[in-house]
Amino acid sequence: MQKTLSKQLLEWYTKNGRDLPWRVKGGPHPDPYVILVSEIMLQQTTVKTVIPYFQRFMERFPTVQTLADAPLNEIYLYWQGLGYYSRARSLHATAQIIVRQMGGIFPQTRSEVLRLKGIGNYTAASFLALAFNKPETVVDGNVIRVICRMYRLTDPAADILPLIRQKAEALTDKNNAADYASAIMDLGALICTPQNPRCLLCPWHQSCLSTGLPDLEQIPKRAKTEKKIKRGKVFLIYNRLGQIYIRKRTEKGLLSGLYEFPWSETDMPFDTQNAADTETEVSHTFTHFRLTLRIYTLKSDDVNIGGIFVPVKNIADYPFSTLMKKIWQKAATLS
Ligand code: ADE
Repeated sequence: MQKTLSKQLLEWYTKNGRDLPWRVKGGPHPDPYVILVSEIMLQQTTVKTVIPYFQRFMERFPTVQTLADAPLNEIYLYWQGLGYYSRARSLHATAQIIVRQMGGIFPQTRSEVLRLKGIGNYTAASFLALAFNKPETVVDGNVIRVICRMYRLTDPAADILPLIRQKAEALTDKNNAADYASAIMDLGALICTPQNPRCLLCPWHQSCLSTGLPDLEQIPKRAKTEKKIKRGKVFLIYNRLGQIYIRKRTEKGLLSGLYEFPWSETDMPFDTQNAADTETEVSHTFTHFRLTLRIYTLKSDDVNIGGIFVPVKNIADYPFSTLMKKIWQKAATLS
């Protein structure tokens, strides 16, 4: 008898699935905190990037209690470089809700999980499946690619998400939701890759409607969006003591809670007349735009925009975004 597709996939996963630091094979993870942290980190970041961050984070914050008790600033330090810093703030808030409002017991229903911070439908599904084996279906970029190819869904994926979700749900092994979720993500990451998929090694090879077809790599189709380009100036301000001026971003919005050198797309709220143009620029690509900042240096003792002067040697004690780190590295080559 033909094995079910889910069974074929689970057998493939048992032998070939990745060993990842937040993963156990053969059922849900015994510690839901591990799944919470890893799923939040994996929301907008690749597995490869997340691994060392996850390991350092879990060494410092091994339990939901340690995380709830830690100062937010320290959590940012462990998050710096991962991007999307509102995730760190949400994770901290979620740990506090679990410890202080839920008696340290992780919620196991969708409606309760959605009441935590920074957890939308996608993360709720992956958390419930991976931590509690709840019959939830994960639909991330990897899964979308697998499903679109399997059923030859050639419309732009963004236009047919309900259909993709329905197909993905129909395939899910509801009794083995944890392993199934990991398995289909691994299939997308290891076999059904964007380029050069390894169809001959795929457990669904014989059922897939796209195997071997020349347009395989063009599925799923993406709607093209142009990234906006933004430009601005960033100021490295030194006082008489040679200390540098940094300020903390507000708790809301882009890169919130991290420190930065003052920058703006328009004017600065201090006198920049004597600033020296280094004729050097640094760029960084965010999700929806690309930002290019031109570096200026300035000698001043009275900048009053809510920041602080700190000794240059202490700069590593403050969490900075990748963009600000790039600026600092660039600055080192200028002097
Ligand atoms: N992407 C999101 N969650 C993941 C997980 N648990 N394993 C691998 N990739 C993921």
